[in-house]
Amino acid sequence: MVNVDEKLMRDELISFIEEQKKKPGPLMPIMQKAQSLYGALTFEVQELISEQLGIPMSDVYGVATFYSQFALQPKGEHIVSVCMGTACYVRNVEKVMEKMIEELGINPGETTKDNKFTLEATRCLGCCGLAPVMMIDDQVYGRLTPSDVPDILAKYTD
Ligand code: FES
Repeated sequence: MVNVDEKLMRDELISFIEEQKKKPGPLMPIMQKAQSLYGALTFEVQELISEQLGIPMSDVYGVATFYSQFALQPKGEHIVSVCMGTACYVRNVEKVMEKMIEELGINPGETTKDNKFTLEATRCLGCCGLAPVMMIDDQVYGRLTPSDVPDILAKYTD
């Protein structure tokens, strides 16, 4: 059985592709549209774009992985961004990241099975004075130690 929302999204994307096909350089706007509709450029979405545009999957995949604005998997409800910039690095952010990986059971770039958290390793978050730093959504957490991680995560779990 096809989910109604999925059918609507698919139809909307296909008609957007039809429009864009007539213009030069259609791939980027199509991928942006697909990402905003589906929340990610999964294999199935890339396949649809490739078929509809009549271009190889490798071209679609190349663009999807080159630009950081595109995600290959849907993001979780909360985005955990651990800063791997220099100031944080020298203040042992690696240990915080290791603890986060252990607690969430995923690696950077992945989302937990319950779709609650996506873990990301990021560049300098612009608050080096608080190193080591991470953000969960819009909230900054600074001067972290690995032992802070479970308590912070507990705030985001029901
Ligand atoms: S290096 Fe981490 S906030 Fe700047």
